[in-house]
Amino acid sequence: MAISMDELWKQFCENLTNADSSEAFEQLRIRYLGKKGEITGLLKNMGALAADQRREYGQKVNELKERTEKAITEKAMQAHVKEVERKIAMTPKFDLTQPLKLEEGSYHPITLVQRDCEKIFASMGFTIEDYDEIVDDYHCFEALNIPKHHPARDMQDTYYLTNGQLLKTHTSAAQNAIMRKYGAPLRAIFPGRCFRNESTDACHENTFFQMEGIMIDENISISNLIYFMKTMLSEVFQRDIKVRLRPGFFPFVEPGFELDISCLICGGKGCPSCKNSGWLELCPCGMIHPNVLKAGGIDTEKYTGFAFGLGLTRLAMMKYGIKDIRDLNSGNLKSLSQFVQ
Ligand code: DAH
Repeated sequence: MAISMDELWKQFCENLTNADSSEAFEQLRIRYLGKKGEITGLLKNMGALAADQRREYGQKVNELKERTEKAITEKAMQAHVKEVERKIAMTPKFDLTQPLKLEEGSYHPITLVQRDCEKIFASMGFTIEDYDEIVDDYHCFEALNIPKHHPARDMQDTYYLTNGQLLKTHTSAAQNAIMRKYGAPLRAIFPGRCFRNESTDACHENTFFQMEGIMIDENISISNLIYFMKTMLSEVFQRDIKVRLRPGFFPFVEPGFELDISCLICGGKGCPSCKNSGWLELCPCGMIHPNVLKAGGIDTEKYTGFAFGLGLTRLAMMKYGIKDIRDLNSGNLKSLSQFVQ
């Protein structure tokens, strides 16, 4: 005797209760609703029925089919939701939208030294200027007495845009525009982000900060340059720091110098941050080349001037004892948020 619909439903419900995986649900679907499935098989009994009972029987089988289908789908859906919830519960809690639980925010170490320098130079009558990060070849090189194919360009390989513009390699790129804007006499500093195509290590980065300064007036000499640099550095480090001046070549100054300060990390003994020399190149400088003054529209008969390109990134490393330049661009708040002032 064939199994009744009620018995079949009961049996199916028991099996469904025990099923807990997507494979188990699929097997139930095949077992009961497949072409050769048990519910589908009930239709075979139709032939034994009287014609007037067939319709009612067929409807009942269809109703059972639908109920079964619905029950499997619902249970599978519930199991799926549970599985997703389980996976979510196992995922470590990480919410990018949550604010970091720092007691208080802090400035980046480079911002801090930049502000120190700005304050000091402002007190000495310098204005603080801003300038673009994307510049053209003329401002970055030509106006600075660095013609095309000059070997000095090799030191300053950078990132070029398809339209021929480039990311500025040094803050000197602003000199021409600032001379043209204000004319002489002029005292200005212009901090900025610079870029170079560099392989990175403890003391090189492809993105770093400099602060350029120029002073143009009548009778400006190297003595003025040394005075301003010494005053500024002693203020920043809050002590009388050791400096040395070496001859240095930069096409936009004549004479040109390298101003070094003794490495504050190793005290001059030599370490990876100072390439074991005990000194850190901090501030190349010199007397502005007449070609540069002329390009800036300055009367070279009447005026002379000095310029310097302070390594703000280097200065921050010195001041705060940061051994690896890469920490500064890391975005790592553990290291960068220590410098609350
Ligand atoms: N712009 C130069 C560089 O980044 C640095 C520099 C040298 C700037 C001498 C100056 C200077 O103003 O006088 O390599």
